[in-house]
Amino acid sequence: MSPGTGAAHRSSAPAGAPERSPLPETFGPGKVILLGEHAVVYGHPALAVPLTLGVTARAVASDRCTLTGLTDLNEAQRGMLDAAFEAVAEATGRPPLRITVSSTLPVSMGLGSSAALAVAVSRLLLSAAGSRPSPAKVLGLALRMEETFHGTPSGVDHTVSAHGAPVLYRRASPGRQARVRQVRVGAPATLVLALAGPRRGTQQTVAALRQRAKRWPKRYGRLFEEMGRLALEGTRALEAGDLETLGDAMNVNHGLLAAAGVSSPALDVAVDALRRAGALGAKLTGAGGDGGAVVALFRSPPPVATLEQAGLTVLTSELEPTQ
Ligand code: PMV
Repeated sequence: MSPGTGAAHRSSAPAGAPERSPLPETFGPGKVILLGEHAVVYGHPALAVPLTLGVTARAVASDRCTLTGLTDLNEAQRGMLDAAFEAVAEATGRPPLRITVSSTLPVSMGLGSSAALAVAVSRLLLSAAGSRPSPAKVLGLALRMEETFHGTPSGVDHTVSAHGAPVLYRRASPGRQARVRQVRVGAPATLVLALAGPRRGTQQTVAALRQRAKRWPKRYGRLFEEMGRLALEGTRALEAGDLETLGDAMNVNHGLLAAAGVSSPALDVAVDALRRAGALGAKLTGAGGDGGAVVALFRSPPPVATLEQAGLTVLTSELEPTQ
């Protein structure tokens, strides 16, 4: 048995008190894609940054390896979570822990809640199994969970979460590993995330777009290529602290995502309201589809109350300059 697991087993608590695990709590940040979602599935680069919101995992010694928390999941989501946890528990030798997760992220809104959960739980299980939770190991394990949630994800979500830093990401392809470059942030900014209502799952939106792209490969290929270019231009702007240029790239990217058929009236209304409120750029983020989230870039945002009066449900996250 690994030292971590053994210690968890050996810790003794006063009679009647819950037994404490010496494992530290772990955190997986959520993510927001600033540029390049969907195109990233087809091998183009995407720019994504971690959020200050995320998932925390804590463990206490137990007789079995179980996961609790996240009570507001529907039956389908709960089933997927159980299957995903089963895969990583098995891979780490089922350390006897009761893991409890808590999240500050809305579920299934394109803000990387499943990846954040996968990263927090993978870190904890690796530590419990006595293995140093290096980014490479966390990525490998978290991907197993993400594959249960999303089929064949590009990997951008859990990569950003595991790195905990902005990244320019290109997915793996046959014979080539994923390419990840950490991106410096040249100027402070605030990201406002507006929630535009429930949406269907990422897999379905990605599959529907794949059908269109298969039927008209040249047309959709041009759209994806331009989205990838915007990701590269936006990355240079973020590093240079040129928020106007980054914001413009986000605006253009939203237009291309709408052209690709993954925006919706609710998303377009939120984008418009945030631009009117002074955003340097605003776009849908994540898979989109019929709902989900919009990300807007502000140098300094208006008060949340003002945005709420405009009918928006918002969260905020800070983009700190790299030291
Ligand atoms: O699951 P979401 O909404 O965070 O979307 C992930 C981004 C996509 O590019 C649409 C899918 C992927 O696998 O990268």
